[in-house]
Amino acid sequence: MSKLWGGRFTKATNQLVESFTASIEFDQQFAIEDIEGSIAHVTMLSECAIITDEEARQIIDGLQTIKKKIKSGSVNYTIEDEDIHMNIERMLTEEIGPVAGKLHTGRSRNDQVATDIHLYVKKKTKEMINLITAVQQAFVNQADTNIDVIMPGYTHLQRAQPILFSHHILAYFWMLERDKERLKDSIKRVDWSPLGAGALAGTTFPTNRERTAELLGFDTVYPNSLDAVSDRDFVLEFLSIASILMTHLSRISEELVIWSSQEFNFVELDDSFCTGSSIMPQKKNPDVPELLRGKTGRVHGNLFGLLTVLKGLPLAYNKDMQEDKEGLLDTVITLDGSLRLLAPMIDTMQVKKENMYHAVDQDYSNATDIADYLVTKGLPFREAHEIIGKIVLYAIQQKKYLLELSLDEYQSFSTLFAKDVFTFLEPKHVVDARKSLGGTAKSQVQQQLAQAKAVMEG
Ligand code: ARG
Repeated sequence: MSKLWGGRFTKATNQLVESFTASIEFDQQFAIEDIEGSIAHVTMLSECAIITDEEARQIIDGLQTIKKKIKSGSVNYTIEDEDIHMNIERMLTEEIGPVAGKLHTGRSRNDQVATDIHLYVKKKTKEMINLITAVQQAFVNQADTNIDVIMPGYTHLQRAQPILFSHHILAYFWMLERDKERLKDSIKRVDWSPLGAGALAGTTFPTNRERTAELLGFDTVYPNSLDAVSDRDFVLEFLSIASILMTHLSRISEELVIWSSQEFNFVELDDSFCTGSSIMPQKKNPDVPELLRGKTGRVHGNLFGLLTVLKGLPLAYNKDMQEDKEGLLDTVITLDGSLRLLAPMIDTMQVKKENMYHAVDQDYSNATDIADYLVTKGLPFREAHEIIGKIVLYAIQQKKYLLELSLDEYQSFSTLFAKDVFTFLEPKHVVDARKSLGGTAKSQVQQQLAQAKAVMEG
């Protein structure tokens, strides 16, 4: 089969070269965007009298037929036609004859491929925003149902201070809200149309780039044709946002893995989201959060892959840029699958409140509160810290928790202690005392939850 660009060549392409340079295996995923870009281009060409209305009609009809065939899965792509652009042009020629050759007037595959990716990234960015919203809703639901549940809060994975589970889970809500904001904000940079930039320098035809931008729903056009065909910042930005988002999903996944271990036993993931072992009959493994955590590696890798591809490229288009696609597609598939799973997995997760409470009851995470207690009695915080440190050491040696020491024992460390110290030590009191803005007191978490719900509705 002769190449669309074959005129200048005297030999057939080496077969290894053909398969090495072809991108059709993966860029066929941009088929619909490619056709939409072509329809806009042809519409503009006829409006600008570069081709006749009749020619435009024939080309657009042909492209619509091909679109239907693609959607019904009845097209065969060939590696000889290298990429999606030339595959579709070949199909169009077969469909409508030589007039198909007018489609590529005043454009190049370089601005064509950039247009396809812009349209694709914009579409996927919007889809990701919706998928994130579903996960956020799951966090809100869990916070709502478990508003009162007390659990240990950790720093260094050491029990630090008791907190509300709802407070903990809502932290992830806000992380995802920032991811969504990043995605929304990025759209204004994806929304530039490269179409009509030509190979790099523009075109001799009297085209109207603003018109194709408008037809494709872009906000504006790239002011510089070289930048238009060379820019992949918008892909890098998508991959960066995806990397941060995956990092967040990985962190919650890590918590789910830890929390569902027998040692913690804080949550139980629904059976339908777990898998078993082929040898150990008792096992119920948290494979989904583990894989989510693991897949974060490939999403980060895709970002670094493209950063590295681009960093040494002179302007304008270089074939290296074809390497922008597989990582992007892989990141989209990975994010899509991860977000779709996380939402129902969080929603169906059982929170084991007794176990969480029991953990708080059997630790020294209320120590800060008796330090604060002595401060309210007039002692400087540093001195109070020192005294409580000694009390904790004493209690550990006595194999007692702070609530189990007697008033006499407390008073042997400081005469400022009175009977009311025991109220200060109760986990519920400890939690509810943290009324500062964004703190773990129930009143604060309720306020935060209301704010999260308002964000969801807005
Ligand atoms: N398949 C190519 C890519 O993905 C399309 C652009 C090719 N342009 C060219 N001049 N070889 O980047």
